[in-house]
Amino acid sequence: MLHKNTLKYLYQDLDALIRQYSANQIDRFSFVSEVERLKQANEVILDGNEDFAELVESALLEKEYEILEQMASTALENAKAPSSAIRILILTGAGISAESGVRTFRDSDGLWEEYDVMEVCSVEGFERNPKLVADFYDARRRDIESKHPNAAHEMVARLKQKYPNQIDVLTQNVDDLFERAGCPDVIHLHGTLTDLRCEECQCVFEIGYKSQIGVICPACQSENIRHNVVMFGEEAPMYQKLQQTIDECDVFVVIGTSGQVLNVGWYAQWFEHSLLNNLDPDDSLDPYFKVVYHEKATEATEKIEVYVEKFLSI
Ligand code: OAD
Repeated sequence: MLHKNTLKYLYQDLDALIRQYSANQIDRFSFVSEVERLKQANEVILDGNEDFAELVESALLEKEYEILEQMASTALENAKAPSSAIRILILTGAGISAESGVRTFRDSDGLWEEYDVMEVCSVEGFERNPKLVADFYDARRRDIESKHPNAAHEMVARLKQKYPNQIDVLTQNVDDLFERAGCPDVIHLHGTLTDLRCEECQCVFEIGYKSQIGVICPACQSENIRHNVVMFGEEAPMYQKLQQTIDECDVFVVIGTSGQVLNVGWYAQWFEHSLLNNLDPDDSLDPYFKVVYHEKATEATEKIEVYVEKFLSI
């Protein structure tokens, strides 16, 4: 299951190379060097997949090409066929919470118009002025307390409740509107506003909508406490989970993200089925998706739900 999508594209590349060589469209030297390049660039996947490794080796040894061609297309068909139930990745960004009154980051009235992102959301900014950063996150917490989930959060929650094992909900948002909509098992890629983290013992604990100023760690009593949100310049541990989920899922549904932090256009290329819902057209993003809706998330909700259910009711 792991690397399913990646493997599919590798088989596709290999299949195309073998076909081109068999049809004399590329010469022997180009063929062997391209297969070698594919082999070197994908060592990890070769390690974990004997069939693919064997196919690459056979291609390099230039076995009979008719047999090789057959092997490659069978492998490609197998990789394409869903090995188990269809899985759908729903990945969201600030746009899904916009109609709940939570400001996005990069739209014209977005947070980065008012704040300097490098002052309040970067490792350097935090080192320079931790109080400014704490005030920023206090304000974000106060802000979301009065906000409510909208129809788009509720639609995602409904789908996740109905198909818990076939849908993965990953969000870049640090608000808790999915949880309040009743959505189980949401993965917050950039952390959570309603939690704090102890810098001493790394314990993560809930603070709700309260100020973080003067809070001490409930586990080790340290005063060295910080927001539980990832900053520019530090690792986002949940990105590993994102990569794994991309590899495991068959359908990619993206709602309300500019793709400036997570390159959702790039990811979309690994899926046969993909949908994007953003407010405004974006030529650097839209062409990578099969279905694109430019409208408010709450207006696209019904269509997105039908799109997702279409795969799950097969
Ligand atoms: P952005 O502010 O970059 O993008 C918001 C997207 O939502 C845009 O593409 C809008 O077109 C779209 N949008 C706005 N209103 C919408 C609506 N009502 N319905 C549908 N779409 C709408 O936000 P993100 O892409 O989520 O990171 O930003 C990614 C990360 O950058 C955030 O998680 C945050 C920020 O720096 C951290 O704070 C760690």
